Amino acid sequence: MFHLPISSLPAQFGNIDIYLFDQLLKGRIRKGMKLLDAGCGGGRNVQYLMQAGVKVYGADASEEAIAKVRGMAAELAPTLSPKNFVVADLANLPFADAAFDVVLCSAVLHFAYDEAHFRSMILELWRVLQPGGMLLCRFSTTIGLEGKLQEVAPGKYQMPHGPVWFLAHEPLVRELVYTLQAEMLEPLKTVLVEQERSMTTLVLRKKDEVL
Ligand SMILES: C[S@@+](CC[C@H](N)C(=O)[O-])C[C@H]1O[C@@H](n2cnc3c(N)ncnc32)[C@H](O)[C@@H]1O
Repeated sequence: MFHLPISSLPAQFGNIDIYLFDQLLKGRIRKGMKLLDAGCGGGRNVQYLMQAGVKVYGADASEEAIAKVRGMAAELAPTLSPKNFVVADLANLPFADAAFDVVLCSAVLHFAYDEAHFRSMILELWRVLQPGGMLLCRFSTTIGLEGKLQEVAPGKYQMPHGPVWFLAHEPLVRELVYTLQAEMLEPLKTVLVEQERSMTTLVLRKKDEVL
């Protein structure tokens, strides 16, 4: 069996999110699949995927981020079109319904302006996912910190490290899963960081359409 030397792992995987890595190890993301990284930033989560033959697309509100990820694609996966990477708000994505096998959204949803924007973004991520596809979202919530954070406007919290974020509470997350009639591929997993912020990972499968 071929083993990669441990020292080659950072070059291979870069700063990939461990929950995304977990899904790779579980075989849920494969070569040839169409994957959207929604709120891709500079592309840390798609560096490996591009090289592994995943058909990567990206959307981000920041022109600078999209320029960076296009540059990464030109270097690592020149067969990917620069048009795969678009400047867009996640609440209004310029992609067709059911366009993707996998939609990834890491560290973005807590930048929602309010609950309506948060809901719109989730519904839009769901719209572009095909039946049978997987949505992986990682975002800050109040889970495990209920009553401990300062709410400065409905759903908006002053975070101890400085910014004001929109934090979904657990009933909202569960309600959305129910409304989408999604299958939970993993239990809801939440990490508390120094009792100051809470990062929740939601991994959903869109059920196949009933014929
Ligand atoms: C903390 S970075 C995370 C980037 C990347 N997903 C990662 O995990 O490294 C948040 C990114 O979300 C983008 N973003 C925030 N709100 C957005 C929105 N409503 N629509 C699209 N992108 C958004 C920002 O421009 C930024 O690039």
